[in-house]
Amino acid sequence: MSDNPITVLGIETSCDETAAAVVRVLPDGKVEICSNVIYTQATEHEGYGGVVPELAARAHVERTDQITERALTEAGIDDPNRLDGVAATSGPGLIGGVMVGMMSAKALALSHDIPFIPVNHLEGHALSALLTDNITFPYLLLLVSGGHTQLLLVKGVGNYHRLGTTIDDAAGEAFDKTAKLLGLGQPGGPKVEQTATGGDAQKYRFPRPLLKRDDCDFSFSGLKTAVRLAAENAAPLSPQDKADLTASFQLAVARHLCAKTLKAMKIIEAAGVTTLVIAGGVAANSLIRSTLENAVSDKGWQLVVPPAKYCTDNGAMIALAGAKRIETVGIPDQAEALQMPPRARWPLDDDPDGKRYGGGKKGPKA
Ligand code: KG4
Ligand code: ZN
Repeated sequence: MSDNPITVLGIETSCDETAAAVVRVLPDGKVEICSNVIYTQATEHEGYGGVVPELAARAHVERTDQITERALTEAGIDDPNRLDGVAATSGPGLIGGVMVGMMSAKALALSHDIPFIPVNHLEGHALSALLTDNITFPYLLLLVSGGHTQLLLVKGVGNYHRLGTTIDDAAGEAFDKTAKLLGLGQPGGPKVEQTATGGDAQKYRFPRPLLKRDDCDFSFSGLKTAVRLAAENAAPLSPQDKADLTASFQLAVARHLCAKTLKAMKIIEAAGVTTLVIAGGVAANSLIRSTLENAVSDKGWQLVVPPAKYCTDNGAMIALAGAKRIETVGIPDQAEALQMPPRARWPLDDDPDGKRYGGGKKGPKA
């Protein structure tokens, strides 16, 4: 805890959202979101079936300054000297975009003599529930995004223990690939969710991945193949076929996430943990939320899911992670922070085998 409020500007540019926000952590731990500005690069990547890293980086160059200025103005910060720090996503992510955000933040920090705080994007997601909910550590985190699918025990700021991860695709990637296969457009998650409305989720019995394994790992590539084969069999696809396929796929993903989360809950409940947080873009999915809500309340656990705008990439979670770092470990050494390189891969925990565990986004989601 700090005796004074901690006000931090956060900049997020690791994928296809150019985002900036100002967040204040008060001495009593309360969090104020003073501004939250997001530009989603939908038109830039239209027609490519996924995010094109080069185009994403260029679009970040064009927008980061103006988005940052808007975040400061909307927060009523007329002089950046009033900030306690400037945080920027420093990885994992698409390296060109990460470089843009870091350079903007470093320039602002240097020109106004304020601390620069490099933030791990995954830590932003891991702490995002604290933006709106007053929860305490430790909690179990299901992190489901376009580049990651992990179960983590969040013991505190900077203290994460991984219980499971995907052995192939991330959950969001599976949504994006399914949308591409069915010609639904991008980003795939919301398109699949929309198309599944009115579909029969029992029509296709898709595999239940890694069901017999006792660990907390995930797999989505078999599911993706099963959708492709079913779609080929049913071709040409009517709108109802697409609704049935997406509804059945979505249910299979929800069940898989739920089965593995229940395993992780069983492992850690002996330690007295009874809160599950879901974060990352896929946590915006209503069926996944309700499936986990039912499973968790049956076990006497509490489920916390941030509002959808804080599940997908945003600057507020990066600002909060920066402020929480200042609150718990103090202001980082400025020379060291400024030397921090952008990192395409950056596992959240001390995993010697970050590659297997998908420590970074895999480039185009196409
Ligand atoms: O956290 P995020 O914004 O970016 C990464 O860090 O990757 O997550 C983006 C992912 C994309 O794969 C997108 O399709 C998925 O989240 N997503 C959804 C929904 N909204 C976004 N997946 C399922 N249902 C949704 N409603
Ligand atoms: Zn993300």
